[in-house]
Parts: sequence; structure tokens; C-alpha cells
Amino acid sequence: MKRILITGGAGFIGSHVVRLFVNKYPDYHIINLDKLTYAGNLENLKDVENKSNYTFVKADICDFNTILSLFKKYEIDGVLHLAAESHVDRSIKDPFTFAQTNVMGTLSLLQVAKECWQGNFENKLFYHISTDEVYGALQFDGTLFTEQTKYDPHSPYSASKASSDHFVRAFHDTYGLPVVITNCSNNYGPYQFPEKLIPLFLNNIRQKKPLPVYGKGENVRDWLYVEDHARAIDLIFHRGKIGDTYNIGGFNEWKNIDLIKVIIKVTDKLLGNSEGTSEALITFVTDRAGHDLRYAIDSNKLKNELGWQPSLQFEEGIEKTVRWYLDNQAWIDNVTSGEYERYYEQMYRNR
Ligand code: NAD
Ligand code: TYD
Repeated sequence: MKRILITGGAGFIGSHVVRLFVNKYPDYHIINLDKLTYAGNLENLKDVENKSNYTFVKADICDFNTILSLFKKYEIDGVLHLAAESHVDRSIKDPFTFAQTNVMGTLSLLQVAKECWQGNFENKLFYHISTDEVYGALQFDGTLFTEQTKYDPHSPYSASKASSDHFVRAFHDTYGLPVVITNCSNNYGPYQFPEKLIPLFLNNIRQKKPLPVYGKGENVRDWLYVEDHARAIDLIFHRGKIGDTYNIGGFNEWKNIDLIKVIIKVTDKLLGNSEGTSEALITFVTDRAGHDLRYAIDSNKLKNELGWQPSLQFEEGIEKTVRWYLDNQAWIDNVTSGEYERYYEQMYRNR
């Protein structure tokens, strides 16, 4: 029996990882620890909440004593650490919260794991989920981030994630803590909070609101369907090499403005609008400060060593995603009501 602590399991990617592990491994006990910030939502896990191998605990990863007692109570032997503040625009407004959760929170988890596992690291694993944004920005020259690319973070978000990655590695090198780190590209799919590009835009199309494109829309991101990320995490958790880093990506680069046109096309089609109707909503706004030009991941190590590759074609993934949001309007209305609505309006008033 494995007792696995998944942090941030009520968030976007975390909820897909929790669902996969709870359903695929009935012999494991999955403990989902989440603070339930604006980004955490237990509705994301309605379909697994009554399973006998699943427990939810509301707690803050920064709260060392609580985490320590939970580790002891549940005799945790594996950690999948996803809890984080995850949105670049928020990090520009409020870097302290990012340092607190992403750096100090990760450090407190590492320290608990070290104390509880000390002297017996066998069959233990601390798996830290990170981002390709730690590598900085690429030019339009066809190069890709590899596991050897030097860290060069630019936003407070990526700086906080880079710092947490360094702490994870330091605990491996200094204390021998068994760790693995993965750096993944931009995810998309169901349950993503509609502050991120894809759900924000398709929700705005539905509501006929402006689509705020930063700068000229020329920045490039590599996009991966969230369930493919969850599958990679499962594979690496079970078969990854201790102490190693793996890049995870879709080999699927899109210039923002081209991606936006695809979202418009698919959403208009599914809403029954004639083609191109919502292009009129495109609004070019002031660029994001320090906006990284291009991210692109080389995930060949993961492919060659563990046989993983993305399973969904992008067109299929986008259509599935848009359909899900249109079929789950109550979910999106719930998560965007109240505090978030006020935050969003203020943010765009200031642009
Ligand atoms: P998210 O913002 O949707 O979810 C984060 C979750 O963490 C939420 O449930 C929130 O309640 C929880 N949380 C935040 N602070 C906490 C705290 N102090 N204690 C306990 N729980 C807390 O994020 P996401 O997009 O699902 O990202 C998950 C992880 O994957 C993050 O570590 C992120 O850096 C990484 N990542 C994300 C992407 C992406 O495209 N979204 C890509 C690569 C890596
Ligand atoms: P986002 O989804 O915030 O992810 P990240 O910044 O982590 O890559 O943004 C994806 C891209 O879309 C990024 O280049 C910024 C751009 N963007 C916009 O043009 N308008 C928006 O309203 C948002 C949220 C993002």
C-alpha cells in the first residue's frame, strides 16, 4: 500500500492527477492536501470524493506543524507536490504571496519529508511538479529547452518556481532526499481557472466580452492537454530516476494570436455562430511586463527513456476543452463570481 500526499489536488492539474491516481490505484491511499485558495475547488473532484482510498485535508503547505502531523498520521511515503500560486499576472501584482507559497511552502514540505523519512529513504519519493518558465525565454530560432538549459527566470512566478526547484535539488544533494523534478509546458483542458488564456478567452467569447491580447499576440507557448501531463506524472512517479529532471511538453508551439483564432473558430462553431464572428472581440492591450517571448520544450528524454508522448492532437484537445466549458457553464460561473470578478475588473481597468 502506498500512502501518497498530493498537494494542490483541488487545483487544475492537481485534480486530474488525483482523479487518475484514485481510479487507477485502488490499493493506494491518496491524501489530497489543499488550502483552497481562489484556484482550489472541490467541485473539480466530485466524482472521486466518496472513494474509500481518497481523503481530503484542508491545510496550508506553509504550516510546518500541521504538515508534520499529517505526514505522521497517514505515514506518507510518496509526495506529489503541485500546490502553488500559478498565475504570472498575479505574481507581477503580488510577488510576496508567490515567494511564501512556492518557496517557503515547498521548503516546509521538504523539511517535513526529510524529518519523517530520515534514515529510511527506501521506497520514498518527493516528486516536485514545476514549469518550463524557469528556463526563461527563447528567441524565434528553433531552439528548445532541454534538461541542461540554464535557469533564467524572469517573472516573480518563474523566479519562485526556480527557487523551489533549487531547494528540492539541494535536499537531494545535501541530505540524500529521493526527489524527482519535472518541468512542463503550458497545460490546457477542463477545470482550468479562467484567468489563464484558453478558458478566459472562450468564456469571454461566450459572454461577448473583449479578448485582451497582450502586445501584438506574437509570443509563443507550447501547449499540452492536461490529461497527458497527468499520465506523464504517473509514469515518472513510478519509473523516473531518483535525482533526475524530466521535461514534459507537447511539441506543439503556437503564436498567441494564431491560437486565439483557433479558439474563436472552435467556440463560434460550437455556439452556432457563423465563422469568424467573435474575431471582432479581439482587443490588443498593453503588453505584460517582462513578457517571455517564446517557450518550447524538448521532451525527448521522457520519450526515449520512459516511452511517453502526448496522446491527443491539438485540434482534438481544443475541441474537447471548449465543449467541456460550454457544457459546464455553472462551474465557470461559480468560480468567477465574487472576489475573482472584482479582481479581474480592477486588473483590466488598470491596463
Ligand atoms: P492552480 O492554480 O490551478 O492550482 C493550485 C492549487 O494549489 C489550488 O488548488 C490551490 O488552492 C492550492 N494552493 C495554493 N497555495 C496553497 C498553499 N499555500 N497550501 C496548500 N495549497 C495551496 O495551478 P495548476 O495550474 O494546477 O498548477 C499546478 C502546479 O503545476 C503548479 O506547481 C504549477 O507551477 C505547475 N505547472 C503548471 C502549468 C500550467 O500550465 N498550469 C504548467 C507547468 C507546471
Ligand atoms: P497564460 O495562460 O497566463 O500562461 P503563461 O503566462 O504562464 O504562459 O498566458 C499564455 C499566453 O497568453 C502568454 O503569452 C500571455 C498571453 N495572454 C494574453 O495575451 N492575454 C491574456 O488575457 C492572458 C491571460 C494571457
